[in-house]
Amino acid sequence: MSNYIKKLHWRYATKKFNPEKEVSEEDLETLLEAIRLSASSYGLQPYEVIVIKDPEVRAKLKPAAFSQPQITDASYLLVFAYNTNVDQDYVDKFIKSNSEIRNKPEEEFEGLKDMIENSVLTFSEDKKEAWAARQAYIALGNLLSAAAHLEIDACPMEGFKPDEFDELLDLRSKNLKSVALTTLGYRSEDDELQDEKKVRKSKEELFTRI
Ligand SMILES: Cc1cc2nc3c(=O)[nH]c(=O)nc-3n(C[C@H](O)[C@H](O)[C@H](O)COP(=O)(O)O)c2cc1C
Repeated sequence: MSNYIKKLHWRYATKKFNPEKEVSEEDLETLLEAIRLSASSYGLQPYEVIVIKDPEVRAKLKPAAFSQPQITDASYLLVFAYNTNVDQDYVDKFIKSNSEIRNKPEEEFEGLKDMIENSVLTFSEDKKEAWAARQAYIALGNLLSAAAHLEIDACPMEGFKPDEFDELLDLRSKNLKSVALTTLGYRSEDDELQDEKKVRKSKEELFTRI
């Protein structure tokens, strides 16, 4: 079995974290870079991630996540929130940063700009929000794999009330809506789930090879 697959067996959605063992700043930076380098539709990255260490803030958020203990026992809580303002201004800024980072005139990105304007910018608000949320999930998946690679535990979570998180973190004023969470930390030795076998569809059920 490849080492990568071994790490994916090692990882599990950790319910019980060891509150005494903290993820180092260096490892956190690596994991955040994995989020930053994630692929997204047109490269627009229509989301932001709120990285919360402050125990008081996490304690305030916990009831809005059905009091799941991971929220406060892990080292970090990450809130994935998609942008609700993907509009012409957002796209213009994106094209400008392409031009600056790649050191090419903006005209070279006209084709990309047209494609975005003729697709994303024509979406209804609902469709655009669903599209933006999907991009955030790609980053979440990438983070989970990166965490497994470093043998850092995570618990991805949808079990929370987005409206309450948005209120408590003042996300609406930043044109953001929370969509998914993950905690990062180290498993507690007595979390029995770590020894359970993975329950997954069989290859036959999951894959169609043509
Ligand atoms: C988008 C998403 C939301 C999830 N929400 C929660 C949650 O709120 N609480 C929780 O304990 N686990 C949550 N999980 C963990 C899943 O239950 C877990 O990943 C799944 O059962 C497979 O098990 P494994 O990840 O341990 O291999 C979530 C996972 C994903 C990907």
